[in-house]
Amino acid sequence: ENVPESRIDYVYKVVVIGDSAVGKTQILSRFTKNEFYFDSKSTIGVEFQTRTVTIKGKVIKAQIWDTAGQERGALGAMLVYDITKRQSFDHVARWVEELRAHADNSIVIILIGNKADLVDLRAVSTEDAVEFAEDQGLFFSETSALNGDNVDSAFFRLLEQIY
Ligand code: GTP
Repeated sequence: ENVPESRIDYVYKVVVIGDSAVGKTQILSRFTKNEFYFDSKSTIGVEFQTRTVTIKGKVIKAQIWDTAGQERGALGAMLVYDITKRQSFDHVARWVEELRAHADNSIVIILIGNKADLVDLRAVSTEDAVEFAEDQGLFFSETSALNGDNVDSAFFRLLEQIY
């Protein structure tokens, strides 16, 4: 992560959005620090984290914002719902509208069903989410910030698409 500024080819702004408590902050700390906080508090105010990755030989610094209202200038968005909370999935369409209204037209969006580790509490089927994502032209993945499943791969898919 200690990459000198001079070696960075591109800086990509990415936003993580979705209903409260779906796990946005945890996904971000999993990706940028490989950590999960068991006493996670609700995010207040503006925050971003960075992680520098290499994609197709280019050094890309992802600057990831964990808050709504930062869509301007974002090249990518992770739209997160909680697979155990139907309501958070029902609100996804509204979040897409929000992005279409406030972000660039070319923004790449990946829909993320988080908390995939909570298998017994699942309230949103993978099929429903896949259908919605295809309909809206979004990428899709189910993740667990808790055990780390698919978090890196989802970010990499998003960053590769931006590139
Ligand atoms: P706001 O800041 O209020 O918008 O919430 P947020 O979307 O950032 O959610 P946050 O990351 O704070 O996580 C909310 C709660 O869900 C916390 O208690 C987390 O520990 C828990 N959580 C987050 N991700 C996962 C996950 O993948 N699995 C499980 N089991 N719990 C998770």
